[in-house]
Amino acid sequence: MAFKNLTDSIHFEKAGRQHQQIIFAWLAEPHIQEFWDNSQEHKEDIINFIHDRQQHYFYGTTRYWIGFVDNQPFCFLLTDQLTVTQTSLTKLHRQYLSKTGHTITLDFGIGNKAFLGKGLAAPTLEKFIAFYNYYVDPLANTFFIDPDENNSRAQRVYEKAGFKKLGAYEMKEGAFTGQNTYLMVKELANHCD
Ligand SMILES: CC(C)(COP(=O)(O)OP(=O)(O)OC[C@H]1O[C@@H](n2cnc3c(N)ncnc32)[C@H](O)[C@@H]1OP(=O)(O)O)[C@@H](O)C(=O)NCCC(=O)NCCS
Repeated sequence: MAFKNLTDSIHFEKAGRQHQQIIFAWLAEPHIQEFWDNSQEHKEDIINFIHDRQQHYFYGTTRYWIGFVDNQPFCFLLTDQLTVTQTSLTKLHRQYLSKTGHTITLDFGIGNKAFLGKGLAAPTLEKFIAFYNYYVDPLANTFFIDPDENNSRAQRVYEKAGFKKLGAYEMKEGAFTGQNTYLMVKELANHCD
């Protein structure tokens, strides 16, 4: 299929066994390791997810997705639904949980270096949110993303994708415990309050 530009060709698939090798190759890349959870628990969680096994990391409900551009796998996304009953949520996160629908937290990385620094990151996130809202969960109307305070490139990209910085907090669990992180939020325009 011929596309007008690279962005038009972007599509997403749920991560499966066929993606295991590429995911782990991306996780080994230095540019991913700088800002990505490199723990054994996270890796085991990916394996459990792609083999449809019970997950245990964080809430045990993280979903993993692969983004393709021009039919080549290039990025990795994580989603998890946040709910008011999750005791580890910060006050800041609670304050911005959707009151009318579902709140989805995201993680994002471009593993394929051939597509890094090409201006694809913000349009990819915008397309992923539209994809998620349309195909996965129409009630998902609020999206969180949490860039490290030192990850100014990611912050720039998230702002371009329509996320707003609404506060900062210290990570209390996971691979980046003790790090200061921004909470950035995107609310879909068409949801009614
Ligand atoms: C963050 C990431 C997805 C961005 O993708 P990318 O391909 O590098 O980004 P793009 O080329 O689409 O856009 C980068 C933007 O940030 C700007 N930028 C680049 N380096 C920057 C820096 N150090 N500080 C601020 N802005 C920066 C670029 O100028 C560009 O903005 P512009 O279009 O207005 O000029 C990618 O670098 C990545 O996967 N990094 C490793 C994992 C990671 O950090 N994930 C985020 C975890 S929260």
